[in-house]
Amino acid sequence: MDMNSLPRHVAIILDGNGRWAKARGLGRSEGHRAGALAVREIVQYCREIGLKHLTLYTFSSENWSRPKTEVSALFSLLLEFLKAEVPRMLQQGISLKVFGDVEGLPLAVRTALKLAVKTTAKGGAMDLNLALNYGSRAEIVRAVRRIVADGVPADQISEETIASRLYTAGQPDPDLVIRTSGEQRLSNYLLYQIAYAELYFTPVAWPDFTPAEMAKALEAYQSRSRRFGKTQEQVDAESAGA
Ligand code: IPE
Ligand code: IPE
Ligand code: MG
Repeated sequence: MDMNSLPRHVAIILDGNGRWAKARGLGRSEGHRAGALAVREIVQYCREIGLKHLTLYTFSSENWSRPKTEVSALFSLLLEFLKAEVPRMLQQGISLKVFGDVEGLPLAVRTALKLAVKTTAKGGAMDLNLALNYGSRAEIVRAVRRIVADGVPADQISEETIASRLYTAGQPDPDLVIRTSGEQRLSNYLLYQIAYAELYFTPVAWPDFTPAEMAKALEAYQSRSRRFGKTQEQVDAESAGA
């Protein structure tokens, strides 16, 4: 892996906790517990290699349709995670950000998140964005409402007007989207921001997604040729000149 050409921003759809648990005769919550450990390892690894922005899809606005017991197990795990990890984030300069409708989360979760975001705000080494109670279409609707509320005239609306009102404002667009556990879909994730991202799908279930698997994804990313509409010859000429 070439440490000089890491993606600036990696967005992950962590999927397969339930299937991982089922295959082991465990309950879904146990799968999520194993998934939380994987999150911890991957965050550490990304921080170590110097990745600047990492976004994890942790709870979608559609996930409310899951059984109540599973939803509350997920939130308890999140609380445990914050308790254990915030001190470490502080130490390592990781800033926690939340993408999604925080106000729609249970009070205890909301309170813990707000505190974690505030205490880690000065981080500077890496942004760890948790997409929580997140849906991409809702994010775009929210941005449009803000544009209208700000009174921006129609002819002044640019791509930047929209981008600056998304949760990702101030961060680069994801260069790489990873989805674990075999599904090849985006499930309402960062649709505006990933217009030109590279996509990486792996059959590995999220709890088994180790730093070595992450390294494989990064290597796959580095083997891609990003052309942004140009021909390969133009891209080659530019990198020879650079
Ligand atoms: C991903 O694992 C975690 C969340 C969506 C919170 P799943 O729970 O979706 O696992 P599968 O897809 O049922 O295996
Ligand atoms: C997507 O996973 C959301 C998260 C990873 C939090 P799901 O497992 O809920 O996705 P779908 O609904 O199967 O596409
Ligand atoms: Mg799933």
